Amino acid sequence: MYTFTNQFMSNNKNVEFLKANMMGPNAMRLAEELASHLNINENMRILDLGCGCGLSTLLLVKKYGVSVFAADLWISPTENYERFESVGIDEKAVPIFADATKGLPFANGYFDLLFTVDAYHYFGDTAEMLPSLIPFVKKEGHIAVAIPGLKYEFGKNVPSEMQPFWNSEIERTLHSLDWWKDLWKNTKGIEVMDIREMGCCRQAWEEWLASDHPIAAEDIKMMEAEGGKYFNIIQLIAKVKR
Ligand SMILES: C[S@@+](CC[C@H](N)C(=O)[O-])C[C@H]1O[C@@H](n2cnc3c(N)ncnc32)[C@H](O)[C@@H]1O
Repeated sequence: MYTFTNQFMSNNKNVEFLKANMMGPNAMRLAEELASHLNINENMRILDLGCGCGLSTLLLVKKYGVSVFAADLWISPTENYERFESVGIDEKAVPIFADATKGLPFANGYFDLLFTVDAYHYFGDTAEMLPSLIPFVKKEGHIAVAIPGLKYEFGKNVPSEMQPFWNSEIERTLHSLDWWKDLWKNTKGIEVMDIREMGCCRQAWEEWLASDHPIAAEDIKMMEAEGGKYFNIIQLIAKVKR
């Protein structure tokens, strides 16, 4: 399932590139697993929403030959353009600024697939967000999400070993699979096709903890405390029916 990522990471220079550009659990690996549940072909136009430094974009362009609009809030289009040029995907990957909470600058029905890795939990935790994204996807197209989550909702009972790491942002963004299922299940204009825990959770986290990012250094303590008991990575796939 991870043939592209494993091959990419067999080269030390590529590993250095990944380490320098990861912003959370290895987005290339997450993207490859998520993409393996979809029928992606080179004629597709994909929106990679919350692409960060574009590791998921790189996977989509290099593995499938698709065209990708790489949209992000924190990472500038210029920075991503330079990175995309450096890895030879600038012909197929369009870097663009977007804040999903403020409306997206695209035509209705423009994308075959809205793909988002380790980003949707920052902006998708409201009843309004999914309905606001559906119009940008073609009928019979898909919305595919991979996000870090919890094995169960903590509510007020945050486990004592996790309390030092808990804050209002984590509380707002990290949820259980059932929580996301409830949020999506009654949304008009889609059919939920698949919601599951992803297989690469542990490996994607380990690869992130070995990265150069200062936040990864902080996350090492959190993941030691977590010890495989509480976190998962959740994938949600819906088909657009409108
Ligand atoms: C943890 S980073 C992950 C980046 C990348 N997907 C990855 O996995 O390496 C979360 C990303 O979500 C993006 N993001 C957060 N809120 C957003 C919003 N409202 N609209 C678009 N992107 C957003 C940020 O810009 C950031 O790049």
